[in-house]
Amino acid sequence: MCGIVCYVGTQDAKPILLEGLRRLEYRGYDSAGLAVQDGGEIGLHRSAGRIIDLEKKINDVAIPGCTGIAHTRWATHGEPTEENAHPHRDQEEKVFVIHNGIIENYHSLKKKLAKSGVKYRSDTDTEVLAHLIAGHFDGSLTEAVRKTMSQVEGTFGLAVIHKDVPGEIVVARRGSPLIIGVGEDGNFAASDVAAMVRYTNKVLHLNDNELASITAEGVSISTAQAKEVQRPAETVEWLPEDAELNGFPHFMLKEIFEQPETINNAMRGRLEPGEGVPKLGGIMPVWNDLKKCRHMVIVACGTSYYAGCVGRTIFEKLTEIDVEVELASEFRYQKLNFPPNTFIIALSQSGETADTLAAIREASRKGATLLGIVNVVGSSIARETAAGIYNHAGPEIGVASTKIFISQLTILTLLALLLGRHQNLSLTEGVEAIKALGALPDQVRQILSQDNHIQAIAEKYFKYNNWLFLGRKYGYPIAMEGALKLKEISYIHAEGYAAGEMKHGPIALINPEMPTVAIAPRDAMYEKMIGNMQEVKSRRGPLIAIATEGDEKIREIADEVIEIPHTLEYLYPVLATVPCQLLAYHCARFLNRDIDKPRNLAKSVTVE
Ligand code: AGP
Repeated sequence: MCGIVCYVGTQDAKPILLEGLRRLEYRGYDSAGLAVQDGGEIGLHRSAGRIIDLEKKINDVAIPGCTGIAHTRWATHGEPTEENAHPHRDQEEKVFVIHNGIIENYHSLKKKLAKSGVKYRSDTDTEVLAHLIAGHFDGSLTEAVRKTMSQVEGTFGLAVIHKDVPGEIVVARRGSPLIIGVGEDGNFAASDVAAMVRYTNKVLHLNDNELASITAEGVSISTAQAKEVQRPAETVEWLPEDAELNGFPHFMLKEIFEQPETINNAMRGRLEPGEGVPKLGGIMPVWNDLKKCRHMVIVACGTSYYAGCVGRTIFEKLTEIDVEVELASEFRYQKLNFPPNTFIIALSQSGETADTLAAIREASRKGATLLGIVNVVGSSIARETAAGIYNHAGPEIGVASTKIFISQLTILTLLALLLGRHQNLSLTEGVEAIKALGALPDQVRQILSQDNHIQAIAEKYFKYNNWLFLGRKYGYPIAMEGALKLKEISYIHAEGYAAGEMKHGPIALINPEMPTVAIAPRDAMYEKMIGNMQEVKSRRGPLIAIATEGDEKIREIADEVIEIPHTLEYLYPVLATVPCQLLAYHCARFLNRDIDKPRNLAKSVTVE
């Protein structure tokens, strides 16, 4: 959702900015633009549509200058047209600004500015920023931005250049991610490490209500109250090749195939097989309270929410803790009343999801302690939680989350196991769990080796317009995640249902035109799932079963079977997810969908 990349240094800015924009494509956008400064001149170039459209427009245009700002816009205020694309400029075309987030009081600001004669060129909230900054400019761009920050309500990660101060970019942040990159031949700013990882892995994180002046020579950070901030640069672990396809046709497929390594990365250095207890250094700051905790709430959105739903059942199995799972977008509007020593776990791939951030802020206000399970190091959720666990899964570029879901399941299991071992869970159970966790990467590889078989199933069914996914207990959230994956990337309508609920309504839909995917491993719910599958078959519904290897009974009932290896009941979700991902991927491929950048979706949803 909206991407920012900026560069100031000794090299031509145009190719660096375009390269950065391409790296941000996965975030989701519908127009793009850049502004490059060459002495006292600033060239503005924008286009509706894809980055390739912008490139076509400017390929043969000489755009000199070593300072520039660039943006991909995901429309919120105003249609995705060229005029609404960023950068936006003031009346005199001196200030050029790009912005992620939403200026909530832009209506009243716009009215005021209009009274003083300002004419608008766009329908965006962002344009007010350009006019305000121009109005406050008195030689110092930093001060003009600081004054503007005090006037605007809402969220922003923004970057500004001004004709009268060549070679300087001012960036500011409140509620939208913004990272500064410290390079050899210049400095960077971006909404996401991916945009600059090719040039530098040294980053400075801006906190909310901070701003920074960036030049080729250095970076100076200050607060909205003009207090200077000294902050050392951190080194990020991501490698440039993490953001390459490496021979795969799509990032989604690459990330599905990375999952054995993703599980290893989530567990690396965290398992103590002999003791049956994981080590999770990131939660040590709150360990004394956490080990006494009896009430937890997991808050998350989308795929992360489904991981949370699996997590609840794993906690129920391994610990004495009551766990609730809440959709972050609903949670903060509830009457929150927590028992003492309640922990909130924010589960988020990006660490920037606005709904999840808002939910944990509200929970913190009500006295709960915050834990984060996030993939992006230094992200807002990572910084706003008292302690947490990183996924260490590397960048996930495909908009549809795959490997992070698997990583979240792995980490939730480790956390539950750790807490359970300090409660009632025996050494034998702990050792058994660690052994089973250690086997998962190879078991996932075994499922991936059935890719051709799953592709053949997809080829048979991709033309069906409505699908049902059924599961029970651990399998129920996987049914929901399987349905979400299919609808996100193939645009096929799919519903995930608790199998027991089928006869209370959805059974009316079953007919030869509606495939059902049944998550049916040999767990405690097996016999009940068999009953549900028979109900589907007796209504002539096509049936695809995800079953434990060697299950002859299911072979007799289902039209198609995808086998997964045997594991502990609470680890089946990890294995059962993989066929769902591949099924969704291949259906989308047969339908020629834009798999890594599905329509209307953004990777990181930074607006509520
Ligand atoms: C995943 O496929 C989705 N695109 C989406 O549901 C995502 O999981 C959700 O927006 C939460 O994101 P987060 O994990 O970054 O917080």
